[in-house]
Amino acid sequence: MINKKMEDALNKQINEEMFSAYLYLAMSADFEEKGLAGFANWMRVQAQEENDHAMKIFDFITRRNGIVKLEAIAKPEQSWDSPMAAIEAAYNHEIHITGCINALVKTARELNDNATENELQWFVNEQVEEEENASKIMDKLKTIGESGHGMLMIDNELSQRAYTPINPVV
Ligand code: FEO
Repeated sequence: MINKKMEDALNKQINEEMFSAYLYLAMSADFEEKGLAGFANWMRVQAQEENDHAMKIFDFITRRNGIVKLEAIAKPEQSWDSPMAAIEAAYNHEIHITGCINALVKTARELNDNATENELQWFVNEQVEEEENASKIMDKLKTIGESGHGMLMIDNELSQRAYTPINPVV
């Protein structure tokens, strides 16, 4: 049986992950509108992964005999001034999520909830990758500067990203 304080904190994280999915879906739509199909694909896959993150926590709460409580998802921004502005916003958002995960680990430790702390280690590792992925795209955008050809090359590279479900989800 999961502690109520831990359950509440994990439910809040489901909302954070669902908002992340919404944010990246909004970025995907914005890239589609601007004719950057590769960036749009990358963000769409990112949104799918965020949904998996939410479901991983959802399933964990259920397995611990807790109750999942879903709250309203905030409206994300709809448009960004440039690819760099969007990717930088994604990077900053991932830093925020890393902070959320670290706060959850702290709560789990305070409650001596080893099972939750253990589950959260997957997210601790995932956040390293999440920040790194956005940071790498930012570096590439910095390198190409104003080059339209460079932008098309990055767009083509990002079009290759394929969705792979977390396995196993629980
Ligand atoms: Fe679910 Fe991008 O962290």
